[in-house]
Amino acid sequence: MTYHSIFRPDLFAGQTIIVTGGGSGIGRATAHELASLGAHVVIAGRDPDKLETVRQEISQSGGGVTAVPCNIREESQVQNLFAQVLAERGAVHGLVNNAGGQFISPAEMITLKGFTAVVETNLTGTFLMCREAYTQQMHQHGGVIVNMLIDQWRGYPGMAHSAAARAGVENLTKTLAVEWARSGVRINAVAPGVINSSGLDKYPDYVKKEFLPLVIKDIPYKRMGTESETAAAIVFLLSPAAAYISGETIKIDGAYSLWRKTWEIDDHDNAPPAFDGFRDA
Ligand code: ADE
Repeated sequence: MTYHSIFRPDLFAGQTIIVTGGGSGIGRATAHELASLGAHVVIAGRDPDKLETVRQEISQSGGGVTAVPCNIREESQVQNLFAQVLAERGAVHGLVNNAGGQFISPAEMITLKGFTAVVETNLTGTFLMCREAYTQQMHQHGGVIVNMLIDQWRGYPGMAHSAAARAGVENLTKTLAVEWARSGVRINAVAPGVINSSGLDKYPDYVKKEFLPLVIKDIPYKRMGTESETAAAIVFLLSPAAAYISGETIKIDGAYSLWRKTWEIDDHDNAPPAFDGFRDA
């Protein structure tokens, strides 16, 4: 499986980059792209089977990869992840906090347990990963972090817990950009809109068959984004081309978050063609 990145093949040669949630979706695509550009990728996540599948894919493509099971909600597991990677690799140059999760529910039906679980995964887990990256490595050596948001700019009806947590991650990203600048740390975020990723499989059938087509009509580009289009933004932010960018967010949403209904956009197919790094050019 060859990944067709638009970036230079040796861009991350000699670097070790951790990608959480690397066993599927955007995390998997990002791990493939970084490995294709010379990085040794550490894919971390909760499901060892998914990690192993992606580890084999990347390894068979000739990429450097290690799989480390880790629940980012558990402080000791996060601490052990960095200790293990540093013992094996000597350094961590980059971190992609892609792991996250949520479920669809009207706000009034979200239980305390459900709300807490989503906040712990998306916000607290991201914080723990950032803090350990900093204390165990980047405080002394600098480094680059990319965090994951959703399209939370106008609230997110149906996902109150995740939108609140991601808004927290956006603010955390800004704070850490300033606090850790003195150590040479850059930290940014990406905010994918509606992405045709393997994560969609988790949603009920009515969401995919009835709700999604309506949502796509509401996207100025009239199509979903791809995992690769998101991975490319992450890779750019990790790269030296983004050396003067910190505390920022790149939206990958076909202008979804900007559109209001006072401006009609009839259905069209004039959006730039979807970029898919797994497909032969
Ligand atoms: N992906 C979704 N939830 C996760 C968690 N708690 N830890 C690691 N990866 C995850």
